Amino acid sequence: MGTAPPDVDLSRLEQTKRFGTDPIGFIRACAREYGPVFRTNVLGDGERVWVGHPDVVKAVFALKSDQFTVTNTVPVNIGERSLLYQDGAAHSHQRKVLTPPFTKARMKGYGEAMLRHAEQRLATLRGEVDLQHALDEVTLAVILDCVFGLEDEAEQAELLRITPAWTDAVLTPMAFTLSMIVGGMKLRRAFDWMADHSPLREGRARGPLKPPAWWRDIADPKAALDRVLLQAIEEGRASGVTGRKDVLALLLASTFEDGSPLDDELIHHQLLTVLVGGHETTSNTVAWTFHHLLEHPDVVQALRAEQREAFGDGPLDPARLSQLPLLGSVIAESMRLSSIAIGVGRCSLVPIEAGGYSIPAGSHVSPSPYVLHFNPELWPEPERFVADRFVGRGRIPSHQFMPYGGGRRICLGMVFAELEVRVLVSVLVRHLDLEPRRTDDGATMKGLTLIPSDGVPVVARERVTAPAPDLVAG
Ligand code: HEM
Repeated sequence: MGTAPPDVDLSRLEQTKRFGTDPIGFIRACAREYGPVFRTNVLGDGERVWVGHPDVVKAVFALKSDQFTVTNTVPVNIGERSLLYQDGAAHSHQRKVLTPPFTKARMKGYGEAMLRHAEQRLATLRGEVDLQHALDEVTLAVILDCVFGLEDEAEQAELLRITPAWTDAVLTPMAFTLSMIVGGMKLRRAFDWMADHSPLREGRARGPLKPPAWWRDIADPKAALDRVLLQAIEEGRASGVTGRKDVLALLLASTFEDGSPLDDELIHHQLLTVLVGGHETTSNTVAWTFHHLLEHPDVVQALRAEQREAFGDGPLDPARLSQLPLLGSVIAESMRLSSIAIGVGRCSLVPIEAGGYSIPAGSHVSPSPYVLHFNPELWPEPERFVADRFVGRGRIPSHQFMPYGGGRRICLGMVFAELEVRVLVSVLVRHLDLEPRRTDDGATMKGLTLIPSDGVPVVARERVTAPAPDLVAG
């Protein structure tokens, strides 16, 4: 029988204040003081066991689908049938149908689209830019293309405008707090009700009163977004999806095990899920990579040398980018130091005995990269950015390295994201000289993920390509 995780010995108020102002700093300070498994008690969140001991992380990720639920107070109204909001058998059932579009076999076409968008939108950056913002636009364009199959430029432009407006309005600290008080589902339903009554929603009865601005900020972009997505589903059904390779087309053609097709509402909710889960996660990861890379110009040179060896002056090939060892290592090292998720949440329905700890059934447990990735037994000199740390190490199990979470809920879009991050980093390294203009070294929560507080400000210049060494010789 192991010992209970130690409780953080601070008042709830103090813990809430410290977690609210500097979540990473607080979690890491607790790990230093109490070891790799400890329990916090933050107002609104309640008791939570943070886990960074590999044996305990392994035990959490090994939980079967009927042995845990997800603790979901996320306020974003992507639809209650979203994969994100399912538990147990319903989750496993949905995951089976949603997995095929995101497997390696499907990546070829997506890689080419990623490269095209990155070259159009990133290679042309000039002057003072907020890299974070530029990356958000590219990753959103990639989702619209690869997932929704939206080719109409006007529609794309509209979605590029309304999607961030919607997520910025619902993923606020206030919404998170409200969600903890009233419950995530109730708040999401309230947001949906507002969108249903937006003046933008056709055919809805409208009262004589004009809704206030804050209401319209929440309701209108979602109403507009729903309209475009439902129309895309309807058109896909009407015209057929033969020859199309986007995720929507694959979902329209998919069936459950019993042969029944996916209904429109289910597809709509999954599209919203991928839209929210699949773009800022990726752009933030690339932003963090540059946050670190810009401190290490020698590593940028080494990445260019690796690229030159693979492609010379010819075009980048996304499939081959997946095989470049230094590129993969630099990205992984950045994700080790700066994961976008502070932890992943589970409520364990069974007791957990592992690593010398006993965690009772009913506990909220959060494996955290900010504890696990700084464990010196797994990662020597864990604070240091070591560009080639991951070279030659192959795939590392998620109880040692978990930027994409683990177990039955590991990121559905992991293969897609890994390819996209490689493409975006490579295009930036190849085409631009980036001069850092850092104003802050910290991390801030933006919606569901952590971003560099300063948004990675840079001065972007067209790269004056150095001649390849073999051209200079002689
Ligand atoms: C570098 C980019 C990304 C990172 C770091 C990331 C990270 C994560 C993490 C940490 C989780 C939670 C896993 C867990 O609870 O164990 C997750 C879940 C998820 N991600 Fe990603 N993600 C990324 C990109 C994407 C993309 C591109 C898509 C879709 C195209 C996507 C779709 C999802 C979905 C649907 C889930 C929920 C899975 C479930 O609950 O079964 N993600 N992701």
